[in-house]
Amino acid sequence: MATTTTFERVYIWERPVRLYHWVTVASMLVLVATGLIIGRPPAFLTAGDASASQWFGTVRFLHFAAGYVFLFAFLIRVYWMFAGNDYARWYNFYPLTPARFRRWLAGVVQVVKVDLLQVQKEPVQVRGHNAMAAATYGVVFLVTIFQVVTGFALYAPMSDAWLPQLFAWVVPMMGGDANVRIWHHLATWFFIVFSAIHIYLSVFHDYVEAEGEISSMVSGSKYFHRR
Ligand code: HEM
Ligand code: HEM
Repeated sequence: MATTTTFERVYIWERPVRLYHWVTVASMLVLVATGLIIGRPPAFLTAGDASASQWFGTVRFLHFAAGYVFLFAFLIRVYWMFAGNDYARWYNFYPLTPARFRRWLAGVVQVVKVDLLQVQKEPVQVRGHNAMAAATYGVVFLVTIFQVVTGFALYAPMSDAWLPQLFAWVVPMMGGDANVRIWHHLATWFFIVFSAIHIYLSVFHDYVEAEGEISSMVSGSKYFHRR
């Protein structure tokens, strides 16, 4: 028998959050693909003219261009951590006061009970990110800063632009180019593993809770069951 459910539509993710999210996804696809090629370049043998085999230069150019896009999307998000609505603010990701920290910890316990141990049937009642997800995004933002700093540091010797030069000091501090590249490479795997788990969990929550989780990152709104 068909049942009727009433949903409340709530606007959660404002435009800058959604813009940041999808521009980050697009630039990250380019950065991971080109980065892994830069890290282990395939040896192509060709009988063609040298002027027609600048493909590795193109790969590197795409990496640096996507690096700028990745940085500017992140800067928009950082601005929105201070200017956006309650769901977008910095304290969701970094609950630094004792009261916020206690509330965050209670949220994590609830997520563990409901989603991991499945000992509690009532769904987690939050509108923005749940406490566990928010903490993970807090780490993603920090690794983003690390990846931008090490990326522009590696880029500094190849560019006269002022922005990469701001990070030139990082290379000697980290013990040379090779070390920076190893760390930059490791952080890449953080993003790959995070993305796999993140996409799985987004689909899982969308399916189990049926509140429009995935489309909310497109339209901005989620649909909550009126109980
Ligand atoms: C999530 C973002 C990023 C990912 C996943 C990523 C990934 C990678 C990887 C895997 C490498 C090869 C490292 C190795 O194995 O030796 C690399 C190299 C490099 N990346 Fe990134 N990167 C990112 C962001 C950036 C940014 C923002 C910049 C700044 C322009 C940048 C600039 C560079 C440079 C200059 C190199 C060395 C290129 C060379 O020596 O030919 N990266 N990146
Ligand atoms: C097709 C792939 C993806 C889908 C469907 C997707 C979906 C979503 C959804 C539904 C949310 C809100 C979830 C919540 O409330 O916890 C979210 C948030 C987020 N996602 Fe994704 N995501 C995808 C790929 C990625 C990738 C590749 C990254 C970066 C590595 C990423 C980084 C983030 C971040 C940082 C947030 C927090 C947004 C904020 O508050 O600024 N996502 N994503």
